[in-house]
Amino acid sequence: MQQQKSYRILLLGSGGREHALAWKLKQSPRCSHLWIAPGNGGTGDLGTNVPLEPMDFTAIGDHCIDKKIDMLVIGPEAPLVGGIVDYFNRHLQLAQVLCIGPSKAGAMLEGSKDMAKQFMMRHDIPTAIYRTFSLSNSDEGQAYLRKHDLPIVLKADGLAAGKGVLICQSREEALTEYEMMLGGKFGTASASVVVEQFLSGIEFSVFVLTDGERHVTLPVAKDYKRIGEGDTGLNTGGMGSISPVPFVDDSMMEKVRTRIIEPTIKGIQTEKIDYKGFIFFGLIKVGIDPYVIEYNCRMGDPETESVIPRLKNDLVELFEAMHHGVLDAQTIEIDPRFAATVVCASGGYPGSYTSGIPIQLPSGSDSLIFHAGTKMTATDLLTNGGRVFAVTSMADTLAEALAKSNQTANEIGFEEKYFRRDIGFDLVAK
Ligand code: AMP
Ligand code: GLY
Repeated sequence: MQQQKSYRILLLGSGGREHALAWKLKQSPRCSHLWIAPGNGGTGDLGTNVPLEPMDFTAIGDHCIDKKIDMLVIGPEAPLVGGIVDYFNRHLQLAQVLCIGPSKAGAMLEGSKDMAKQFMMRHDIPTAIYRTFSLSNSDEGQAYLRKHDLPIVLKADGLAAGKGVLICQSREEALTEYEMMLGGKFGTASASVVVEQFLSGIEFSVFVLTDGERHVTLPVAKDYKRIGEGDTGLNTGGMGSISPVPFVDDSMMEKVRTRIIEPTIKGIQTEKIDYKGFIFFGLIKVGIDPYVIEYNCRMGDPETESVIPRLKNDLVELFEAMHHGVLDAQTIEIDPRFAATVVCASGGYPGSYTSGIPIQLPSGSDSLIFHAGTKMTATDLLTNGGRVFAVTSMADTLAEALAKSNQTANEIGFEEKYFRRDIGFDLVAK
């Protein structure tokens, strides 16, 4: 039998998503070495953290040449939208590195909401009705807003660190915000503004790995974006997640497959977009039908922390199969248990908060404690960000998995720790 290749892997990013990916990659016999740039206080136990910024393509490329890295896994969107995959493909000494993530053209499905909407229109993919305006046609935009049904959704076209979407309850508010966005409220990201119909329903997230032609579908998840219990207060990166999602049944997944996943991948193929990576479909169930709220060109955080522990397949093998054009020969195997993830954040997040606070971790917990904003010094583990940990537990019922994660979140010790105690309980079978 032919000897199977093992990979020297560099993973970019520093969040809970990257700790979960590192944890999974490390389990693969096909991963011989793992580096994480820059990583966090948890990833350092699974591989070597290297102090490189994901946007510093030259330094990352040099590191890959120096360490003979042959697989690059890109966690966050910014380097993808910035064109890291194109940079590697163009570079004589880096073109052989298997990149897990789309080219810039593919990443623009996340990097420009207007481009994503145009793509969905071209391929007849269900999404909210919209128009896009910029300074050159801002008067038209005002007239459009004055006639728009309420509430009105305004979206900065470009990347705005998850803050670029506003849901306005009155036309006056929408007009004021619209002017502020075109005036630079989110910098160049809001030079164009997408004005969108409000869709009323419940959101969920579907993830696929695709080579732009074939795909495999990963477990479905739901995240909880608001900071406060009962889904109140400011939006965050995500305060918890669960997988599977009780209201997403086989018939809903079938609609998602035929109306959304397949037309999207067909669209990528016919438009000759180089896409070898994850697509994260941010979906909303309106009545009995799924609509696309957004595309992301990467895995979600904290959805990854619920999805990846349920995936039984070897992730390195899936990545290799994607690059060899044989993803369709892979059978995805999923742990049938529920995974529930509860995020422990620094008090004050998503506003201002203090970092550098010492952390005590519980010993002997049967949850997975994925680090996000943590840092290991020579002697101490310290907080180093807004979202500090993502605690995942698995159990036969959602209620049990949630109870375990809440218990572990409770046992993690750092001053001003905050976590939502209600994650997932809205979906527990009564
Ligand atoms: P996005 O960055 O596009 O995911 O938007 C952030 C959040 O805004 C989404 O997760 C939804 O909760 C909400 N949202 C975005 N677009 C719409 C819409 N058309 N209707 C209702 N809610 C929306
Ligand atoms: N949890 C949402 C995201 O990763 O964008």
